[in-house]
Amino acid sequence: MGTFLKVCISLYLFVMHGGVHVHGSSNGAAAGVYDVTEYGASPGNEDNKDAFVAAWRAACSSAAGNATLLVPEGTFAVGAIEFSGPCKGGDAPVVLINGVLRPCTGRCHLSDDAWITFSALTDLLVTGAGTLDGQGGAQTNKPKTTTLELDGVANSTVRGLRFVDSRGFHVSFHRSTGVAAEGLRIHAPASSHNTDGIHVGFSSHVRITDSVIGTGDDCVSVGPGSSDVVVTGVVCGPGHGISVGSLGREEGEEAVRGLVIRNCTVRGTTNGLRIKTWPGSPPGLASNITFEDITMANVSNPIVIDQHYCPHDHCSDADRDRPSLVQISDVTFRRIEGTSSSKVAVQLRCSEERPCSGVRLDGINLRCGDQPCHAQFANVRGTPALDAQAPSLGAGIVPPDTVSDEASSKLF
Ligand SMILES: *[C@@H]1O[C@H](CO)[C@@H](O)[C@H](O)[C@H]1NC(C)=O
Ligand SMILES: *[C@@H]1O[C@H](CO)[C@@H](O)[C@H](O)[C@H]1NC(C)=O
Ligand SMILES: *[C@@H]1O[C@H](CO)[C@@H](O)[C@H](O)[C@H]1NC(C)=O
Ligand SMILES: *[C@@H]1O[C@H](CO)[C@@H](O)[C@H](O)[C@H]1NC(C)=O
Ligand SMILES: *[C@@H]1O[C@H](CO)[C@@H](O)[C@H](O)[C@H]1NC(C)=O
Repeated sequence: MGTFLKVCISLYLFVMHGGVHVHGSSNGAAAGVYDVTEYGASPGNEDNKDAFVAAWRAACSSAAGNATLLVPEGTFAVGAIEFSGPCKGGDAPVVLINGVLRPCTGRCHLSDDAWITFSALTDLLVTGAGTLDGQGGAQTNKPKTTTLELDGVANSTVRGLRFVDSRGFHVSFHRSTGVAAEGLRIHAPASSHNTDGIHVGFSSHVRITDSVIGTGDDCVSVGPGSSDVVVTGVVCGPGHGISVGSLGREEGEEAVRGLVIRNCTVRGTTNGLRIKTWPGSPPGLASNITFEDITMANVSNPIVIDQHYCPHDHCSDADRDRPSLVQISDVTFRRIEGTSSSKVAVQLRCSEERPCSGVRLDGINLRCGDQPCHAQFANVRGTPALDAQAPSLGAGIVPPDTVSDEASSKLF
């Protein structure tokens, strides 16, 4: 009797679920909404992964098109999860997150590279009023886990969501093309490690716009294999600024080409705009990079090229003394204004073996408190030569000394 009742209830639920979606698809007017709570998800600390995956499978294989996977309001725990495609008919569902997602606690694990991954999809939109809370805080002993990764995704957008306290990068675009991050708010403690706001790697045609990012590491970092990346309207700080790199870690590393950082504000960060490569690195390339219309406020090192980048003593003594073989070329810093909290406003330390070429500084207008600003150049070649560019650097400039070795000169 009990069994009979259970079967009846199951059958009823099955018909209800099936009915709603069949109705959605046959009707054609109402796009199917796949609410994770209809697949067994509930707010609380229990892992909702199975329910999320079930709802995703249904949405992704729906014949209706225009399907929406919905995470409604409420705080849901979920373990490492991958939403993979391709989906039926090509386009991925819209993923609407209005609730708060947290990693589950206890026995469920979160040691994967990424917590929430979308892979092998096209035309994906991940959006909503919700928050992805990695619960990393300032702790450094947890494994580094990226909060949200798009891997092998095309023509897709992440819009409007909030990210807090990731255990690693907050958002990562990996092996993706035609992807955008719009209107994101990303926050982690300034003391947290490797908590980059948005990381781009092995991806092309990337747009990052109108986002507010403050973490313990780079607000935006652009790694190897990235091309045509445009970053606009980002307000950055605290953190380590907006960076290219670090580059030159791997043998045969792919180039960074075609990067524009425009109309951004960088506030209270350790670095402002930076290109960094490891010493002793194998050959590589970073070229056609433009930073323009940037406002700095109280930034320690506003403009940096560092080809001797070696944080936390991560390189061997042998490597430390060897030059980087990453060639940096065609880099423009244009209309950069505001305040530096240190007296070295511009620091370009290029490789002895591969001097930077085609470096332009144009309309740099930085103030260093009561003191004059200084610039340091090593192994930098500009077109025109940097000393010829000096008049565009601002009033009262002493032309930089030499561009062939370590040299420090008073700029402002
Ligand atoms: C999806 O929505 C768009 C615009 O709302 C509509 O033009 C299109 O026909 C819809 N596709 C399907 C398969 O329902
Ligand atoms: C992405 O969009 C571009 C431009 O609309 C199009 O040419 C390309 O085929 C699309 N890629 C995929 C995988 O759908
Ligand atoms: C510059 O970025 C700010 C956000 O920081 C935005 O409000 C403004 O519209 C942008 N201006 C232009 C010209 O894009
Ligand atoms: C430099 O990169 C930008 C941004 O991707 C691109 O629009 C421009 O065509 C590139 N210029 C050259 C000379 O490749
Ligand atoms: C500027 O930044 C320094 C740390 O780099 C900080 O100590 C100081 O309070 C900041 N000043 C302002 C005005 O924000």
